[in-house]
Amino acid sequence: MRMGTGTGTSRPPRWRVGRSRRSVKGLVGRRQRGGFICPRALPVELDLGLDGVDVPFLRDTASEAARIGSQVIWEALDKPVEGLETKRNASDLVTRTDKMTEDAILAYLRRELGGDHMILGEEGGYTGNPESAFLWCIDPLDGTTNFAHGFPSFATSVGLLYKGVAVAGSVVEFTGGPSCWGTRAYAVGRGLGATCNGEPISVSDRDSVQDALLVTGFGYDHGEAWAMNMDFFKHFTDVSRGVRRLGAAAADLCQVALGVTEAYHEFYLKPWDVCAGVLIVEESGGKVTTLDGRPYTVFDKSLLASNGLVHEEMMHHIAPRVETLSVSEELKERWFIPDGYEAIEATPSSSSSS
Ligand code: IPD
Ligand code: CA
Ligand code: CA
Repeated sequence: MRMGTGTGTSRPPRWRVGRSRRSVKGLVGRRQRGGFICPRALPVELDLGLDGVDVPFLRDTASEAARIGSQVIWEALDKPVEGLETKRNASDLVTRTDKMTEDAILAYLRRELGGDHMILGEEGGYTGNPESAFLWCIDPLDGTTNFAHGFPSFATSVGLLYKGVAVAGSVVEFTGGPSCWGTRAYAVGRGLGATCNGEPISVSDRDSVQDALLVTGFGYDHGEAWAMNMDFFKHFTDVSRGVRRLGAAAADLCQVALGVTEAYHEFYLKPWDVCAGVLIVEESGGKVTTLDGRPYTVFDKSLLASNGLVHEEMMHHIAPRVETLSVSEELKERWFIPDGYEAIEATPSSSSSS
């Protein structure tokens, strides 16, 4: 197996800065579409180059991939769930729709990119060109449990890394519920801002936890960090306007970006859960770090995404407790990094508040 498999004990990550020696064929000079309003300056330290591929093209490719995936989900709504199986435990579900959606997204990306890029799909693992600095991270159906029950919080998420830095993405979030489904389609390109259904979005301006609506999630592994997050749930319910648990990480991130919630945190999310959503938060003016306050990459095992303004106060509650976990060192190890993948140290957060 050529990739880190999520145990946290696979080969140590190789982090270094530098231009890739690898080339990405067939993309330079291809169609360039117009940019969105609300451009953000690329942080100076992040002059990525992108091997000559332009960000609007990547954003639009991600959007089309997510749109195609979400169509497969649309077809399955308000019908009996097909092919329901469990994965690592009884609550970790997968359905025929998860697999068909991923197949549709991969077929589109292969058609568009001709196999030049590497792809990580939740259901199929790593495919494509292992030499590429571009790595697509795809969660075809984030929130499978909600989907299987007709509960309205699930999404298709398509994100793209270049040397480990999120550069483009799209999330199609399903809203409403049985007999009244709708979608919100988010699109993002690094330096271009983020949009929802074509309109620029930005995080909220609430600046205290007391005035904040928070959201969190609980993964399928019910270990020490999961138990601590149950304590956080109680604590933040006490000191904020409330904590929601909706069950789809990609949608949770997008709602921070939309200004509906002020912060979202969770342990042990995977690159496919977060790749598009973290960039959507950052490009909407928010901030993303690990739960012990380090710069975040999609290969990290804990995440706090916020509007920037409540970040420090959230950290004040969370970080010292996280350091007391017996797994605190293991939490600092990164996972799911493809063997030999050349990555820049961290995705810098674009918040102005830090
Ligand atoms: C899950 C959802 C959930 C989060 C879990 C994820 P899945 O993804 O995003 O909100 O708490 O950690 O694994 O399995 O529905 O794609
Ligand atoms: Ca997921
Ligand atoms: Ca999924």
